[in-house]
Amino acid sequence: MSDARHAPSPHQETAMQRTAGQIMLECHDLTRVYREGPQDITVLDGLSLTVNAGERVAIVGSSGSGKTTLLNLLGGLDRPSRGEVRIAGESLLNLGEAALGRFRNRHIGFVYQFHHLLAEFTAVENAALPLIVRGQRKKVAEASALKLLEKVGMASRADHKPGELSGGERQRWPSPGRWSPTPAWC
Ligand SMILES: Nc1ncnc2c1ncn2[C@@H]1O[C@H](COP(=O)(O)OP(=O)(O)OP(=O)(O)O)[C@@H](O)[C@H]1O
Ligand SMILES: [Mg+2]
Repeated sequence: MSDARHAPSPHQETAMQRTAGQIMLECHDLTRVYREGPQDITVLDGLSLTVNAGERVAIVGSSGSGKTTLLNLLGGLDRPSRGEVRIAGESLLNLGEAALGRFRNRHIGFVYQFHHLLAEFTAVENAALPLIVRGQRKKVAEASALKLLEKVGMASRADHKPGELSGGERQRWPSPGRWSPTPAWC
């Protein structure tokens, strides 16, 4: 795999100026071996990567090369066979399952290839769910969710349900449990 670095988008610049030069994400010696089938498959073998605040990184590679495997590890959705991931200085190795869930809820944003939206809820309700899970009152959570929808150009669709949107719009739609309103890393 290779990575390509690009200039930040305008709305990322504020975050970058605030935290310029800070390491936001780093992994060392990251290794993932799948042992579920008849033979071990080593997908990642000793990968190290550092991403600074505000930096955009594209992970590029052929099908089956390990992009999803890597993103699952960097997003705290899977555990490495060896090595370590640190996000905003916190080692994910130190977090148990419940603490890791809370850390994802607060610090990591996910935009999935396949959207994970609850069909019965509107855009703003879907986006507010992580905050309600965090203990915020519904009204306060929905006000923050609306700001988030504005950021991804979806405010005008706030009261629409998933079935009323295009595929691309559904992907941009912050979804429950998948998106922190103030992610350190997305
Ligand atoms: N749970 C699993 N058990 C065994 N092998 C797996 C498992 N998940 C993925 N693999 C294998 O690991 C390799 C990397 O898979 P991964 O999904 O990370 O690839 P990818 O780069 O995201 O591919 P694509 O571009 O097709 O999405 C593949 O060879 C895949 O078959
Ligand atoms: Mg993939």
